[in-house]
Amino acid sequence: MTKFKYINVPLGDRSYDIIIGSQLLNKAGDLIKSVIRSKNVIIVTDTNVAPLYLSKLTSSLQIAGVDVEKIILPSGEQTKSISHFENLTDKILAMKVDRTVALIALGGGVIGDLTGFAAASILRGIDFIQVPTTLLSQVDSSVGGKTGINTRYGKNLIGAFYQPRLVLADVDVLDSLPKREILAGYAEVAKYGLISDKNFFSWLEKFGQKLCAGNKEYLRAAVFMSCKTKAEIITKDETEQNLRALLNLGHTFGHALETETGYSGKLLHGESISIGICLAFDLSFLLGLCSKSDVERTRKHFVLIGLPTNLSDIVNIKWNTIKLLNHMQSDKKTENGKVNFILAKGIGESFIARNINMKDVHIVIEQAIQQL
Ligand SMILES: NC(=O)c1ccc[n+]([C@@H]2O[C@H](COP(=O)([O-])OP(=O)(O)OC[C@H]3O[C@@H](n4cnc5c(N)ncnc54)[C@H](O)[C@@H]3O)[C@@H](O)[C@H]2O)c1
Ligand SMILES: [Zn+2]
Repeated sequence: MTKFKYINVPLGDRSYDIIIGSQLLNKAGDLIKSVIRSKNVIIVTDTNVAPLYLSKLTSSLQIAGVDVEKIILPSGEQTKSISHFENLTDKILAMKVDRTVALIALGGGVIGDLTGFAAASILRGIDFIQVPTTLLSQVDSSVGGKTGINTRYGKNLIGAFYQPRLVLADVDVLDSLPKREILAGYAEVAKYGLISDKNFFSWLEKFGQKLCAGNKEYLRAAVFMSCKTKAEIITKDETEQNLRALLNLGHTFGHALETETGYSGKLLHGESISIGICLAFDLSFLLGLCSKSDVERTRKHFVLIGLPTNLSDIVNIKWNTIKLLNHMQSDKKTENGKVNFILAKGIGESFIARNINMKDVHIVIEQAIQQL
């Protein structure tokens, strides 16, 4: 199966294609060559991905006549840090690069976000290409140009909007991805249905389990649908003045949980989003915005897939409501001291809620903690 699907992201001189398919890494050399300015690229990857796919991508580029340098960083969320940013930019600058060099991010969201931010910053901006290797990065983080790193004050607090020149999503690389990572990525897939596409959510209710079991046909379809929805949203609102905020469904809660668990393996980003989405639906119900059956339908689907939906699903953490509320107040989505939430009037009917009383958020978190 070598038929690829293309999605164009039309952003003027920052427009680019997302290409989705199987056996795409073999063709990556020619595809990448057609968008770069010189024949020099630097592949940035991590210690888990390098032994699996680095040589395949390198050979494909070399066969296409491209010169390849490689940088391998430690895997894990901790790599999205200021110290690793410095380490990465030092390594790149030590290669005496000029503005025509392109970075290729081969990896998950951690490598994509960090490499994209390095590309945005080095020499005030060099080209970069996303070759996402996790489900989460194929359906979400590789598209849309949000790049950045975490700080002790919270997630992604330093970063830039900086679009890639090309995104290559080869679903074959998902074969080696641990099941827990597939499920974490799935939370972001389901998010698109819950934001604006009830039919897609119904489709996921039918085929989500097969998709998570690695069925390529369903994986390709889900990556395509997710990227299509994300591309449509970012085309209308590239820098999140309004509409793009919908993509943060579950993220105000989720980021607070991640900050509390120290961005560790105790809770993956997608797992925090699964719980966060359920809490956003709980808050929507508390405020009389959506029905109990919509809350239950959402939770039931995530449970069926095998994702956490309650704070109690994360063992060995003593949750504290005040601490979680404080984390939310320092989230970058705060405006004039107000925390914004994405709430739902139903499945596929999310909207931006700007004037939420934190007392109601307090109630939702207390309820979630008391279920422990
Ligand atoms: N920029 C955005 O718009 C955006 C959107 C969503 C999430 N994110 C960010 O993405 C990050 C999470 O991304 P992630 O879930 O991809 O995590 P990740 O990059 O840490 O990858 C997860 C794990 O899978 C390993 N891995 C990657 N590809 C593999 C493969 N094909 N086979 C085997 N192992 C593989 C990695 O080494 C890592 O251990 C978070 O930092 C989050 O904030 C960014
Ligand atoms: Zn996310």
